[in-house]
Amino acid sequence: MRYSTILQLSATLLSFTIPSTLAADSRYCMNKNVIKAKDFTLQESADSPHLAALAKHFESTGKNVSVTAVLNSGNRDLNKGHPSVGTGSPNEAWAWNSGDYKTTKWTPQGITSSADALGTGKWNDHEAWIVSWYQKGDSVRVSFVDRKTHKYRHVLLVYPSADDDFKSIAIHAGGIMWYGNLLYVVDTNNGIRAFDLDNIWEVETADGVGKMKDGKGYSADGYQYVLPQVRWYKWTPGSKSPFRFSWISLDRSDKPDTLLVGEFVRDGEVDTNKDPVPIRLVKYQLDSTTRRLRTDSNGLATASWAHCVDILKMQGGVSYNGKFYLSRSNGRDPNAGDLFTWEEGKTATKFTNWFMAGNEDLSYNPVRKEYYTVTEYDEGRFILSYKV
Ligand SMILES: *[C@@H]1O[C@H](CO)[C@@H](O)[C@H](O)[C@H]1NC(C)=O
Repeated sequence: MRYSTILQLSATLLSFTIPSTLAADSRYCMNKNVIKAKDFTLQESADSPHLAALAKHFESTGKNVSVTAVLNSGNRDLNKGHPSVGTGSPNEAWAWNSGDYKTTKWTPQGITSSADALGTGKWNDHEAWIVSWYQKGDSVRVSFVDRKTHKYRHVLLVYPSADDDFKSIAIHAGGIMWYGNLLYVVDTNNGIRAFDLDNIWEVETADGVGKMKDGKGYSADGYQYVLPQVRWYKWTPGSKSPFRFSWISLDRSDKPDTLLVGEFVRDGEVDTNKDPVPIRLVKYQLDSTTRRLRTDSNGLATASWAHCVDILKMQGGVSYNGKFYLSRSNGRDPNAGDLFTWEEGKTATKFTNWFMAGNEDLSYNPVRKEYYTVTEYDEGRFILSYKV
């Protein structure tokens, strides 16, 4: 057997002593009955007031392009990879081109596929991955990867800041999820941002982000395309035990579809009140027609499910038919990451050193029965696929 440890997961955080002052907060994991899905709410914002004016400009100048066009424009190649460590055997391993494989400027974090986007598993006949990368304190780019050609292209995420301008987005982008015409991107302390894949804009390949100084167009730090934010889902409850939006995935086996988010917490972490930081999994229902989160008439999205786990350093997770796959990272090579499988009410199974070092977000493809992760460390950056 590959797995060496059986972990007991329950609604109790076994490794912490929970101060009694926390009893009032039902977002803490104190006993089976305490954590309540209704306490995990997100407020949907109005659509960006500047998106329409910008969209009109790019449409009228013939520079509004489709996801398919971006996939067909791949200008970099993945290379067949050979991860050296990890007890799990990926059925596919793809390294980024040499510049992206070793750059210390950008770090990959999130992954999603065309099987998240549509139930058929394909977007306009393309099987694709989208992977997010952050440049610390500066910007986020996403790679559109065509699985047939293994070519990819980076696109910069932008925030429409005026009717004729946009800015880069300085978040960690720890997880992403592609659902129809929207790309959901986690924003650690703030919630989730949604980007509009019906509006990908071609810009001049020049330095700087936004309106160019000479007023003759727009640029995106040398990238050819930008993907604008359309709205937010902001974490709403008070400061107590704010949810950490570390990673995200889609569960198409739930009715309706749900979005699953989870928290990355290190050993012994405490919040500003010196209380232990809980580790939670939360699901929100999606509307497959509008592609938005389901909300009430005030735009409030309330979780449909919430649970605590005691898996530290959780980097990604997926669920399907009640079965969860949750991943843990253990730092740089040779410390490979672990996989946990779990069903609610049962003990979890740990597969030690399953992933090569630097494993991040997870994404499940029910059509191919595969799940995906990306590894983050320079000189060891892969897209990895595993059969279930
Ligand atoms: C831009 O193109 C997409 C299709 O890729 C389309 O859905 C959208 O409406 C277009 N935007 C505008 C402003 O026409």
